[in-house]
Amino acid sequence: MNPSPLPSRLVDSFGRVHNNLRISVTDRCNIRCVYCMPESVQFLPRTDLLTFEEIERFVRVATTLGIDKIRLTGGEPLVRRDLPLLVSRLAAIPGVKDIGLTTNGILLRPMAQTLWDAGLRRINVSLDTMDPAKFETLTRRTGFEDVISGILAAKDAGFDPVKVNAVAIKGMTEDDVVPLGRFAREHGLELRFIEYMPLDAGDHWERGKVLFASEILELLASGISPLAPAPDQDPRAPAIDYDYVDGGGRVGLIASVSRPFCMSCNRVRLTAEGKLRNCLFALQETDIRALLREGATDDAIARALVESVAGKWEGHQINTARFIKPERLMHSIGG
Ligand code: GTP
Ligand code: 5AD
Ligand code: SF4
Repeated sequence: MNPSPLPSRLVDSFGRVHNNLRISVTDRCNIRCVYCMPESVQFLPRTDLLTFEEIERFVRVATTLGIDKIRLTGGEPLVRRDLPLLVSRLAAIPGVKDIGLTTNGILLRPMAQTLWDAGLRRINVSLDTMDPAKFETLTRRTGFEDVISGILAAKDAGFDPVKVNAVAIKGMTEDDVVPLGRFAREHGLELRFIEYMPLDAGDHWERGKVLFASEILELLASGISPLAPAPDQDPRAPAIDYDYVDGGGRVGLIASVSRPFCMSCNRVRLTAEGKLRNCLFALQETDIRALLREGATDDAIARALVESVAGKWEGHQINTARFIKPERLMHSIGG
């Protein structure tokens, strides 16, 4: 029997076309954000991680199915040795149009220019507060000044925009909204607030602890300047963008809880140890590393990706009693 021909696009049963692959390159991190990681954690042994060759091969196969956008994540991706080398190898793959990186910024300053030269063009840096003491409480580590200098080094290297991600937690983030907004305006950064999601260590999440996008907009409007929806929105991006009406820049709101965007999802994820996840909250995974290490053909790897996307559910169920929290924590998915 002849196998069915492979499709040229990754389309699921809801008609969503998937062109965006998020690759976690390590589950390790040099800080310990309370909403993401426990204080002590068993990291994967190095031999479990996909090698750069394995990642490159998977990406080559994925591009034949329409993947053209890549984002490298962690843990903290900059703790993976020789990351710029991976960037340059991925940038050389003909179908790859866009490579981004999501980092905590601690190691960014000395690497920003090298990453740019390797072909990276988009950088998102996580920063939840402008208060150094609060930074230590939130991350359980030091490094605030390194993050700030890393962000500024990324701007100097040519990254534009540099996006700054702040997780929005009720009772925690309110006082940080305006100082972060001012810092972003001063340096021409695109600030995004992300509603706190239930992928945290220790099961602390509850709906009442989410600082909603609407509340953040009000804080910014009264503390800085009113905002209006941006005219040129990307309907497939998680963030809804707003522009300050005084022309002072742009803010994004990632309203995963109050306004889920699953119906426009275009993303699949590969974990550091090579498990393919068709949703941030997926309960099942496809073992790509096993295929790669068993000598599977490109065709077999492509079929595994096609099948994973075909079986994708409608979306997360955070707002229902049916929600089941995945076993994996945020640091081993990559966000
Ligand atoms: P660009 O739009 O390419 O700049 O990147 P991004 O916003 O998708 O990437 P980033 O890694 O900065 O993610 C920011 C936040 O959005 C993280 O907290 C992610 O977990 C969240 N996010 C990204 N993709 C998804 C998604 O598919 N579903 C949900 N629920 N959240 C997502
Ligand atoms: N809810 C929302 N966002 C989170 N991140 C980490 N943990 C959570 C969570 N529980 C964010 C990080 C980073 C991005 C990859 O995911 O701050 O910016
Ligand atoms: Fe590390 Fe990122 Fe998780 Fe913070 S959010 S602990 S920076 S992996």
